[in-house]
Amino acid sequence: MSERRFVDFGRGHWFGPLEASRRFFWDVADLPRLAELLELGPGLRIADFGCGWGYLGHLLLPLIDPGGRIDGFDLDEELIARARERCVEAGLRGRVVFHSGDITCLDEVADDRYDLAICQTVLMHLSRPEEALSEMLRVVRPGGLVVAIEPDLLGSAASQRDNIEADDFEHLRDRLAVHSYIAQGALLLGAGDYRIAGRLPQLMEAVGLEAPQLWFNPVGRQCLASGAGLDQNYASFLLASLEESAPQSPLEEQQPLFAAAGGSAELWSRFLRRERQLDRERMNALREGRYQSAMSPQLGVCTGRVSS
Ligand SMILES: C[S@@+](CC[C@H](N)C(=O)[O-])C[C@H]1O[C@@H](n2cnc3c(N)ncnc32)[C@H](O)[C@@H]1O
Repeated sequence: MSERRFVDFGRGHWFGPLEASRRFFWDVADLPRLAELLELGPGLRIADFGCGWGYLGHLLLPLIDPGGRIDGFDLDEELIARARERCVEAGLRGRVVFHSGDITCLDEVADDRYDLAICQTVLMHLSRPEEALSEMLRVVRPGGLVVAIEPDLLGSAASQRDNIEADDFEHLRDRLAVHSYIAQGALLLGAGDYRIAGRLPQLMEAVGLEAPQLWFNPVGRQCLASGAGLDQNYASFLLASLEESAPQSPLEEQQPLFAAAGGSAELWSRFLRRERQLDRERMNALREGRYQSAMSPQLGVCTGRVSS
């Protein structure tokens, strides 16, 4: 792939928060709904595009038992290695298999090989997501489904609410402005579309997929933490995100995107200063069991059918 990569997901400070976030995207209780939307059933062959460390495969495998198989594709060797290790640890060798490859041109994979191709938080990072979608379409048999699970990061940022920040509207305005600049900068620099969720049906139609359908947050529970009943998945996501030992937070890495769209240095430093202060308070509150928060990942789940 000749494209410049803006995010290195294999690096420690990304890995912790991202892995933890996956635990609150989907919960065991959400799986029947997911299985329904994705028309999952025994014996299905699934291709997981941009599989990363293989989280989705582990989640979906029980839903295609017995006889189902998942092939994961990713170009990050470090993540593929982690995915393989995990697979062995979980005793899933041979049922989830990971391959190195560029999902925008998987020449070694035959046409019509899978019943379903899926990706999660991958198209958002591509300057030309149509290329990956076209490959997904190509490798799925006629009548099969292509599924993209992608967020709107501006929507997630807007939905974030907790009892530490409370009604600090000044900071909320800054947050929305910062995330707007980041999303605009990503588009300008070809780092992807961080608000891609709402564009998925158009993209699917453009590559020739039929009857695209989009659901936002089709899960019963988003995430919720309270002093009394702290959701462990969400708590672990927050703790990993707030980890003080992280050399650099994922947000800080996005400064070049912010700047490319014309975001001012003054806004950036004011926002980060306040966020760091709030993070320290959030961390203390979390540890003391008095943190209350809700946030929606604003995930769009879009399906499109390969014509039969
Ligand atoms: C945010 S991660 C998502 C991982 C996984 N789908 C999940 O939800 O946990 C994005 C992944 O897409 C992969 N990726 C990005 N561009 C790719 C490309 N052109 N070919 C293969 N993988 C790619 C990255 O290496 C990374 O693992």
